[in-house]
Amino acid sequence: MEINRLSDVVKSWLYEAGEMVLEALNAPLKADEKSSRKDIVTNVDKEIEQFFVSKIIEQFPEDRIIGEEGASRNHDNDTQRTWLIDPIDGTLNFYKQKDYFCLMIAIEQEQGDSLGFIYELMRDEMLWGGPKVGVYLNDKRVSMVVDQPLRDGLININSGMVINNRYNAQQIIKQSLGIRMVGCAGIAIKEVVLGKQVAYMSYLQPWDYAAGRILAESVGIVVAAIDEEQLTLTKRQVVVFATPATYQEIRKIKEL
Ligand code: IPD
Ligand code: CA
Ligand code: CA
Ligand code: CA
Repeated sequence: MEINRLSDVVKSWLYEAGEMVLEALNAPLKADEKSSRKDIVTNVDKEIEQFFVSKIIEQFPEDRIIGEEGASRNHDNDTQRTWLIDPIDGTLNFYKQKDYFCLMIAIEQEQGDSLGFIYELMRDEMLWGGPKVGVYLNDKRVSMVVDQPLRDGLININSGMVINNRYNAQQIIKQSLGIRMVGCAGIAIKEVVLGKQVAYMSYLQPWDYAAGRILAESVGIVVAAIDEEQLTLTKRQVVVFATPATYQEIRKIKEL
């Protein structure tokens, strides 16, 4: 499928899923604990992941799928395309605030054909695109990032990292204009892509950052694993999204 057509199809699935989420918010949510009381999954996370998986299988049965809530398909196939799904990113926000969450899909492909989608439903904002098609907020093209240094920008760092001062996080914050925390990786990455903040750093799983990485790199943001050679799509890593100048500063400060 041609890349513009593919992005239209995926956006239509996200809008349809958004309607389902709004509908589900009219009824009480059912939440189950996963690894701890702060790590939950709701009936809606599962329903939306299943919805995306059925759409992908219908149109692209050979493709590989990785979903946060357990969807996994065609891992042994020699397929060209991998889909990563985070059905509701910011589940705790979704459950407690019914706000500050997003739906994310990444399509990893060769030769610059990758696409990322971060849909912040409650603001009706779809951030989408990739290296070949460019990045858009709804229909408006997003510009290449302005390379602001840490001292001129707001940053977002995972709260656990700040509390435990991992990677010298408190010093990084002191050298910035200030910290903002939203509790949703997709929204945090969106703010960096849109140039509202200069960096985001957190422990992330592949589905938390895959869509964001495709979008961020397409507008000139550095995306890297802070203490490893490279990002892999197979495990949890500490991931930094930053303007090039801020990224160099974060690297220096974390070693102090
Ligand atoms: C989580 C959120 C959160 C981030 C966690 C993620 P989930 O995703 O994005 O902001 O700090 O690392 O796991 O579980 O709500 O999809
Ligand atoms: Ca989760
Ligand atoms: Ca999720
Ligand atoms: Ca997530």
